[in-house]
Amino acid sequence: MSATEPRTELDVAVEVNGEPRRARVEARRSLAELLRDDLELTGTHLGCEHGVCGSCTVLLDGVPVRSCLMLAVQAEGRSVVTVEGLADGDRLHPVQQGCLERHSFQCGFCTPGILLTAAALLDAQPEPDEAAVREAISGNICRCTGYESIVDGILRAAEIAREAADGHAGEGA
Ligand code: FES
Ligand code: FES
Repeated sequence: MSATEPRTELDVAVEVNGEPRRARVEARRSLAELLRDDLELTGTHLGCEHGVCGSCTVLLDGVPVRSCLMLAVQAEGRSVVTVEGLADGDRLHPVQQGCLERHSFQCGFCTPGILLTAAALLDAQPEPDEAAVREAISGNICRCTGYESIVDGILRAAEIAREAADGHAGEGA
């Protein structure tokens, strides 16, 4: 593109954490940039910016995606969940509670991506074993922990989610 050539800008409408959001973005802008810079949701972290580290992971229609590799305009009409959308008010999501209880993280840079990846795992597989947890987070790099505490936290999260489901089942009985 020459210096004088106009940039292509497009309107994008996305549901983010349950809220309809709109922005006018350059066609080349990534979903991560839309979230962080335009919508000020800086919980989504950018590490490598080329699809390797997983720190930018968000849920797109419930499926974990690398938001650094996706164009913002590709999210048009879709539903995005970022780490800011995991908790229900003051009530932590089970993956947040489980990882809090097991002191899963240190610096926290990998945390949003791993929490969202784990949330998608528990949605699809409420009783994962350790191997399933390790497989699920195998695309998320953590440079601090050695992963043991993270796996432990996600397994604890699965217990918490099951306990909550059992509690609700009891309420309805
Ligand atoms: S910042 Fe997207 S995968 Fe690393
Ligand atoms: S806690 Fe530091 S990168 Fe994972």
